[in-house]
Amino acid sequence: MNRSPDMTPIHAPFPATRFRRLRRTPALRDLVAEARLSASDLIWPVFVTDVPGADAEVPSMPGVVRRTVEGTVRAAEEAMRLGIPAICLFPYTDPALRTEACEEAWNPDNLSNRAVRAIKAAVPEISVMTDVALDPYNANGHDGLVRDGVILNDETIEALVKMALAQAEAGADILGPSDMMDGRIGAMRRALETEGHKDVAILSYAAKYASNFYGPFRDAVGASGALKGDKKTYQMNPANRDEALRLVARDLAEGADMVMVKPGLAYLDICAAVKEAFGAPTFAYQVSGEYAMLKGAVMQGWLKEDAILESLLAFRRAGCDGILTYFAPDIARTWR
Ligand code: PBG
Repeated sequence: MNRSPDMTPIHAPFPATRFRRLRRTPALRDLVAEARLSASDLIWPVFVTDVPGADAEVPSMPGVVRRTVEGTVRAAEEAMRLGIPAICLFPYTDPALRTEACEEAWNPDNLSNRAVRAIKAAVPEISVMTDVALDPYNANGHDGLVRDGVILNDETIEALVKMALAQAEAGADILGPSDMMDGRIGAMRRALETEGHKDVAILSYAAKYASNFYGPFRDAVGASGALKGDKKTYQMNPANRDEALRLVARDLAEGADMVMVKPGLAYLDICAAVKEAFGAPTFAYQVSGEYAMLKGAVMQGWLKEDAILESLLAFRRAGCDGILTYFAPDIARTWR
């Protein structure tokens, strides 16, 4: 890029460039804004439940509630009204249905699949994204099948493929594999192609880190208590950057249409590097812990609410095409 010289000669009577000219009024600032954010850049993650009494606020995520299937349909309608193009479903499964084999994950009538059908019947225009990972169905809280304390890669993929097909069958537009097993994108893509779902998109959680910022989410889906150990044998080491690029390259080659970096704010360097290297549709997940941090500080009066918008704009500046954020409806409402 050819940069204009902004330097002022030492003895000049005035500054060569007065950057403040274009910051003088809101109109001028708007005119030259480089990054833009709108409702159409957002994906709204929603927690679904059919457990009596569980459709309540998540204590570690003030302002975020678990919804019944009916409530989820109303959320989809609201997203539609607000110009949010997609919602992403995460089930809070009845603890009685969580097993070591995770069969409920590919039950065509499981909670998530019922919610997808209900949304597609009521608001077919909205894009519905579903989560492909075993943790909401797993007695031990892990994203994969466990044997003797080891998370099994290839056996888990077989389960994930069945799960992905059931979700596609239910009408999901976008599948979001968040499990971090190796080879799952290729296996899912092959199954979708051969089973009549060639137009179902995959948004791969390609660079997903083993993060402490997921705690409130695990409360929301009821996986915190069950989880034994951590997820460091399958999620990425927060120290790594080259590995993120290799993972994105791998998932795109295996058939992912879009890729995600997760968490968001602490990984903006990864967002920028991924977008720059591949130019593929790139998303960031502003995860539950980021929500809790910002929301908590705003509720205390320690931060102004505008900090939320600033955090979302940062993702756009870093090159992200869109952001998964629990703030989606609140932010979109401020633009109405
Ligand atoms: C698990 C999954 C997690 C999130 C999305 N899918 C948690 C985890 O990996 O333990 C986290 C999302 C958030 O924190 O908002 N498949």
